[in-house]
Amino acid sequence: MILGVETSCDETAAAVVTGDGRILSNVVSSQAELHARFGGVVPEVASRRHLELVVPVLREALGEASAELGDLDAVAVTQGPGLVGALLVGLSAAKAVAWANKLPLIPVDHLHGHVASLYLQPEPVEPPFLCLLASGGHTLLIDVPEPGGFRVLGTTLDDAAGEAFDKGARLLGLGYPGGAAIDKLSTRGDPEAHDFPIARVPRLDFSFSGLKTALLYTVSDLTDAELERRRADLAASYQRAIVRALAGRIEEAAEQTGAPRITVVGGVAANSELRAALPEAAFAPLPLCTDNAAMIASASRYEEAVPFPGYLGLDAYASG
Ligand code: KG4
Ligand code: ZN
Repeated sequence: MILGVETSCDETAAAVVTGDGRILSNVVSSQAELHARFGGVVPEVASRRHLELVVPVLREALGEASAELGDLDAVAVTQGPGLVGALLVGLSAAKAVAWANKLPLIPVDHLHGHVASLYLQPEPVEPPFLCLLASGGHTLLIDVPEPGGFRVLGTTLDDAAGEAFDKGARLLGLGYPGGAAIDKLSTRGDPEAHDFPIARVPRLDFSFSGLKTALLYTVSDLTDAELERRRADLAASYQRAIVRALAGRIEEAAEQTGAPRITVVGGVAANSELRAALPEAAFAPLPLCTDNAAMIASASRYEEAVPFPGYLGLDAYASG
């Protein structure tokens, strides 16, 4: 049994996963509401909240799995990338649990974690595959030849796809985090009402900052009443542009690389229009799209463990 811990952004998460990828518990405590009034994650506020939540969340994960500390074989934890103060809370907690129980510690890269959300039971998806990782912090096209290994084929030149959703939602007055809110409102809007641009960037990269600016200009020309009336159309058209950019690029990449399979992971993989736009692709299961610790425990199965007690000096890293 592996205890996973994830605190890279604004979710305090712990999970218990078996070596063969069964999820025994997966507890996620989101701080989204706490950060909503600031319109985004405030790093110092996030760290303090992780500190309050990490022990109760760990207890809950063990309890739900009907596991005791003595049943664990290893502790896995996100080492980076993310907010350093936030990461340090999870890393310190994981070190403490591992050290006190003389267990090995497995540091995990958050991005590998997202990919490893595909490797869990009951329907594991196995490499080789092409993977679109679209979250609040990253947009990457990755070639995954085997679990644990990956090669980046393309990335965003500016904003991440999730960030584009969040910034768009903010402009539309939908609050934070915005991806799910735009997704929901779009079902009532006309995606063809506005023709938002899809950036043409070379190779297999992405760009979303022009799209956000286009929405900004459109919205600033509207009165409050007009915005109210057109909000669903704007959301649907904006979402359509992001989905087209993502789906178009991954299909292009699949053609170029001859990849046998397309997969999609990360918070934006929860988007209903993206899921519909790529019917052949394997998507991460909905509860495992946004940040969670089951994916971290999953990834740790393919990483080298640091034996007790050699991990006390491990540090977190902000960027990959
Ligand atoms: O993977 P994640 O939880 O955190 C990072 O590692 O960044 O992704 C969070 C992102 C946010 O930007 C959020 O707006 C977006 O995922 N998101 C969505 C949906 N649900 C979450 N974007 C579009 N449609 C959704 N249904
Ligand atoms: Zn993430």
